[in-house]
Order: sequence, then structure tokens, then C-alpha cells
Amino acid sequence: MKVIIDGEVRTLKAAWYEDGEVKLIDQRELPDKIKIFSAKNSDDIAYAIKNMVVRGAPAIGVTAAYGLAMASKNGEDMNKAKEKIRATRPTAYDLFKAIRYMEVNGYDMNAARRYAMEIEGRSKKIGELGNELIRNGAKILTHCNAGALAVLDWGTALSPMRIAHNEGKNIFVFVDETRPRLQGAKLTAWELAQEGIDHAIIADNAAGFYMRRKEIDLVIVGADRIASNGDFANKIGTYEKAVLAKVNGIPFYVAAPGSTFDFSIRSGDEIPIEERDENEVLEINGIRIGPNESHSKNPAFDVTPNEYVTGFITEYGIFKPNELNKLKDLMDKDLFM
Ligand code: MRU
Repeated sequence: MKVIIDGEVRTLKAAWYEDGEVKLIDQRELPDKIKIFSAKNSDDIAYAIKNMVVRGAPAIGVTAAYGLAMASKNGEDMNKAKEKIRATRPTAYDLFKAIRYMEVNGYDMNAARRYAMEIEGRSKKIGELGNELIRNGAKILTHCNAGALAVLDWGTALSPMRIAHNEGKNIFVFVDETRPRLQGAKLTAWELAQEGIDHAIIADNAAGFYMRRKEIDLVIVGADRIASNGDFANKIGTYEKAVLAKVNGIPFYVAAPGSTFDFSIRSGDEIPIEERDENEVLEINGIRIGPNESHSKNPAFDVTPNEYVTGFITEYGIFKPNELNKLKDLMDKDLFM
């Protein structure tokens, strides 16, 4: 992704390997500062994933792949390294896919590089296919951050918007702020601003207002895990947006690479949902907003049933929820998967 640092345009990825370390854009610091986090061993990798230095399902997978290759080069105990990394975030399927990929490929650094290249290439393809759904003048809603930061480059939900914009289409993006961690307001808005894509941050509870006024034409979100029947987990609040979209007759698309599809589970009921620290809700940027006596509940994701999904935009094509068996056939023939 292109970023402007001190007035200079530079190209950065969300994660890369350099001089024996895994480097990550520290996403906790955005949009105020562009800081690079260096992971030197599997403990650092587990810390970075758990504490959301890096986040977004595909980017978590790439970080795990690089992290395991680095741990192997360091001579670490690989079972312990895998256990630590696996225990970080339970919902994003890409994490488990990447660990499996590295097991099969002997924790080799070239395999990690290949994994990263594949994920990046596939997210561009998602953009090219998803761009077909975006007409000139489209007003699109997105939730959380499914952009370059959540992948490596391009993004999943944001990839079609990037390509539409690069082709000269005039688009406008409604960005849900995405409480509690504000990935929309902090990360998606930052990416769109860097690219010069017209957008506005809206409070999470404002989406229905704009949908009812017919000011939103299309919703595109990412996913953390998609079950065989098309139920999918994504950032908390996605379910509400999907229901509102259906009630208002607005197409609702999920953009995700094959690495996010978990065909070992039948429905969304089997997706493990991460519960995070209550302070993420009780505080904003470290400042407490609720009474000291109050507690919070903080599920990081929700599950949207398949009936609310118009289609899944993947690198293999766009599929309706009842067509995922065709996607599975294509993935079964794909050596990378
Ligand atoms: O908790 P996060 O920030 O990792 O959640 C991210 C999301 O929910 C994204 O929409 C999803 O991972 C898809 S990213 C291409």
C-alpha cells in the first residue's frame, strides 16, 4: 500500500521478513504514527497477534507463516511455537490455515514468502472481480477494516473499492467507526485517505439511517471464518448491518480469499467467537468512559446467517451462499489450498 511519510510516498506491506526479523506496521499506533514493530521470536509473534499489532484474518495468517519460519531458523521448539501462536486469536481461520501450510512445507522461509505472495495476489484478484459490482457513483458501506492492513496489500472488502477508484470511478465510502477498537475510524479511514478515496466515518448506529434514506447502494465487508453453509463470522456489528441491508433491499457482499473458508464446519454455530478484555469497551484510547462500578461484555465477532449474504467475492469468482460447493471443488483442485 502507498503511504505518505513526511510528505514522501512510500510502499509498505502490513507484514514482511527482513534481517532475521518479522516486521509489522504497528496498527495500534495508526492513524497518528507509522511505527514498525520487530518480532524476533515466536513469543513476539504471539504478542503481536494477540494484542493486535497486526490484525485482520489474512494478515494474521501471513504473520504466523513468517513467524514459524523465523522460529525454525532460530532453532526454537516448533511444537511450543505453534501452540503459542495458535492460542492467540480463535476466530480468524487464516491463522490455522497458515500454520497447517507451514507444517506441510517444513517451516521453510521460502514457503512463508510463497504464502504471503499468494495471499497478496489473491486479494488483488478479489478486487478485480468485485470491481464489476461497483458502478460509477456508487455509495458503499463497509465495517471494520478489511483493507491492505488486514491482508498485506489491496485488502478484501477494500480491494474492489481501490480498483474502482484507480479506474476512475467516482465512489463514496461510508465507514462504520467499529467500536470498541475503532478499526473503521482509525484504519479504514486512514487507508482511504492515503488513496484519496472519498469517504465519511459514521457512528456504528448510523448505518440504518442512511440505508433507509437510500443513500447506500451496496455493502461490502470482510470475514474471519466462513462455514460450509455460508454463515460467516466478522467483526462485531456485521450481523446488524446485514439484517438492515436485507430489510432495505441493499446487496450485501462478503469479500474473502479461499484461506478464510472453513469447509470442516457445517454452520456458523461451530465458529469459536473470541471474547476480548472488557477494558476495550470501558475505555476509549485509555480513557475510562463508564462508571468505575460497571463491567462490560466484549465479543470481538458475530455470526451472520447465510440468508443475509448476496454473494461471496473470492479469487475464484463470486458465489451465492448455496453455490459454495462449487467453490469447494475449485479449492480442492488448487494446490495452494
Ligand atoms: O479484530 P480484527 O481487527 O482482527 O477483525 C478484523 C475483521 O473483522 C475483518 O473484517 C476480517 O478479519 C477480514 S480482513 C480482510
